[in-house]
Amino acid sequence: MSQAMMQLVKQHTECDDQLNRCEAALHKGDIASAGRNFRLFSEFLDSHFALEENKLFPAFEKATGMTNGPTEVMRGEHAEIRSLRDEAYAAIEANQPEQALAALDTLNVLIQQHNVKEENVLYPMCGGSVPNLEAVLGMGSTCCGSCSCG
Ligand SMILES: [Fe+2]
Ligand SMILES: [Fe+2]
Repeated sequence: MSQAMMQLVKQHTECDDQLNRCEAALHKGDIASAGRNFRLFSEFLDSHFALEENKLFPAFEKATGMTNGPTEVMRGEHAEIRSLRDEAYAAIEANQPEQALAALDTLNVLIQQHNVKEENVLYPMCGGSVPNLEAVLGMGSTCCGSCSCG
């Protein structure tokens, strides 16, 4: 697995961990901590989605000419995840831990299904078609820039 893919997978794990912290706080009845942890989760999620939507997906689409393929499906799933994220946050803000936990459960399932598709299908496709993936993602590769190690 390339550096770029490892970084993307690491971001998935960081989002998961942060969502788990929020869930644990809700189970303990600590709504303030749940809110803090959820906001952090939300920031991680937004910056990961922005990297994919603004850099990775366009690079894949440019390299393969596939604009109605997997990236379109992933963009649609991002929209679903964002909408459920907003629902979960609204429940936390309204101090409704039961509703928040239910929304978090569904959110977690959606995210896991989405990540499996990216990690097993889309990322390897990107790795095979996009030259210099690290540079495209702004990940500061030490690569020479003229090879295909990205
Ligand atoms: Fe994604
Ligand atoms: Fe992702």
